[in-house]
Amino acid sequence: MADAATAPGRVTLVGGGPGSEELLTVGAVEALITADVVLYDRLAPHTRLASLAPDAVLIDVGKTPGHHPVSQTGIEELIVEHALAGSDVVRLKGGDVYVFGRGSEEVLACHRAGIPVTVISGVSSAIAVPAAAGIPLTHRGVSRMFTVVSGHAPLSDDELLHLAGLGSTIVVLMGVNTLPHFSAGLLRQGMSPEMPVAVIERGFSPDQRTTIADLGSIVSVAIRSGVSSPAVLVVGEVVRLAHTGDLTAAEMMARAGRLSVLG
Ligand SMILES: C[S@@+](CC[C@H](N)C(=O)[O-])C[C@H]1O[C@@H](n2cnc3c(N)ncnc32)[C@H](O)[C@@H]1O
Repeated sequence: MADAATAPGRVTLVGGGPGSEELLTVGAVEALITADVVLYDRLAPHTRLASLAPDAVLIDVGKTPGHHPVSQTGIEELIVEHALAGSDVVRLKGGDVYVFGRGSEEVLACHRAGIPVTVISGVSSAIAVPAAAGIPLTHRGVSRMFTVVSGHAPLSDDELLHLAGLGSTIVVLMGVNTLPHFSAGLLRQGMSPEMPVAVIERGFSPDQRTTIADLGSIVSVAIRSGVSSPAVLVVGEVVRLAHTGDLTAAEMMARAGRLSVLG
């Protein structure tokens, strides 16, 4: 904690995008350059932070599913503690700050402590990871809206009924563990078993992988392929538009029957 003479510093919550430095915004880069302290997440681009934030103390507060070495409360306390000590604190988060990122809780913690806080939006994995797999979320005549949902906890029957009835693209974050519940629920609520589904793992990493199957078989295909987090799921006709090399997803699916694993 700062003594009474220390003026509080400031906090900048930065959306770091889905892992590629190319998707850091200019604002993000500028905030990092002047930072004294950077608290960063596992899925934010962090491998070259030492050069992006040359004067900063770097603190890894990354969580993996079911493993939170630093709790959310602990992260908020660290942010506030460093800012009250007069530091220019950057909280670097994966994707966008406010998309399933607990960013607003961190902003509120700063407000409660009287610390000035700024938010710099980031590119969300919900949009960028499908794009990296060649999947557009909207396409004229195919889908004119998309819904982004959290698969962290199983959806209710009402939510599944709503989603199944929308007739547009569904994007699921944190959805690998709940995929069996999710796909069974959509089928139960009337979605066609022929509806294409894509699972894009580890977007923007050298081992990015896309698995495509129809809704009726996606669970068995995902188990066979060893699909794991982090991954973005896309459910909808737009998946047929995916391009990989010379082939579209539809051509790949037609060739491989109900299974297609695309590089
Ligand atoms: C806690 S949420 C945070 C989302 C983040 N705020 C955003 O806007 O992208 C983490 C989830 O985002 C998705 N995700 C983030 N980065 C990803 C990546 N590079 N590849 C695949 N999925 C990613 C996964 O579904 C992961 O479980």
